[in-house]
Amino acid sequence: MKANTADKLSIKHIVNSKITSVDFNNLDFGKTFTDYMFECDYVDGQWKNPTIKPYGPMIIDPSARVFHYGQAVFEGMKAFKDDHGEVWLFRPEQNFERINLSSKRLAIPEFPKEFFFEGLTTLLKLDKDWIKPGFGNALYIRPFVIATEPAIAASPAEQYKFMIICSPAKAYYTGEIRVLFAEKYSRSAHGGVGFAKAAGNYGAQFYPTNLANQAGFQQIIWTDAIQHEYLEEAGTMNIFFRVGDKLLTAPTNDRILDGITRKSILQIAQDIGVSCEVRPVSVTEIKAAAQEGKLKEMFGTGTAAVISTISAFKHADDLYELPELENSYASKLKNTLLNIQYNVSPDPHGWRYKI
Ligand code: COI
Repeated sequence: MKANTADKLSIKHIVNSKITSVDFNNLDFGKTFTDYMFECDYVDGQWKNPTIKPYGPMIIDPSARVFHYGQAVFEGMKAFKDDHGEVWLFRPEQNFERINLSSKRLAIPEFPKEFFFEGLTTLLKLDKDWIKPGFGNALYIRPFVIATEPAIAASPAEQYKFMIICSPAKAYYTGEIRVLFAEKYSRSAHGGVGFAKAAGNYGAQFYPTNLANQAGFQQIIWTDAIQHEYLEEAGTMNIFFRVGDKLLTAPTNDRILDGITRKSILQIAQDIGVSCEVRPVSVTEIKAAAQEGKLKEMFGTGTAAVISTISAFKHADDLYELPELENSYASKLKNTLLNIQYNVSPDPHGWRYKI
């Protein structure tokens, strides 16, 4: 990774904040953006000129390779404000490491740690009024990298832009989540880019997800591309199943995103004495568990989704509704996670990062 780390972060200030025009009680996920954004360019083999400036449109050449070959990766993070007005990130080193892992797979040069953390923390200090306290309020942070070089040969670009934009957010899923188990389309295959937060992984899900929406299902649980028999992830979330008193989730591999919320939930489950098995989970066993009344819960985990309960699933012609549970594992795990994220409880694993 090459960077001109002698480059100082330059800040161009806003004239007026947009914040007074925002209704923080009525936010559509990802449609409102803060006053500032961070950007840094990769040119002549180096990351250069880290800059924070007013959020706004930018000029990119129509031949930029990102438009033609999808050379783009991103991250999802959240900042939380506690009741004393302090701002916290949750395991940001994990996001830093993962964006570089994704970049490597897409032949994008890795981004330097000092630029990432200096850009991010300075941006959050400038935009701190956009972070509201209270469970459910957060600032969703979207770091991303795009290939900006104007050239349409199908090869890796020589110029990139790394950016961070921020959006005040509430829940990602607001209504019921009913899911289809994938039987025809696949999200990723062995040897592919499924583990990366590559933009194309998400775009490729839109068409099958539209079909699922038309059939009354909000999401698809992707299955392995060969047999469509092993339940992998939901695209915006990793997936957990509670069978009896045990939680099951698929192991991560080169097809499945190594979710930071997923691994935190596995740790919290261990901390609070919920037994977990990380192993391939088959469609057959989940349908059998549902038929026998042993499938108690299904939920997804992710930065945007936090922990989102799934109320029904369909596979082939079989539809299963899951009863609403009091004292569900999902709600216990979610409360423990939120208490850590919002600095309400101790942080036994050192996950909080103060801004
Ligand atoms: C996230 O949870 O941060 C994600 O990246 C999912 C998404 C909103 C695409």
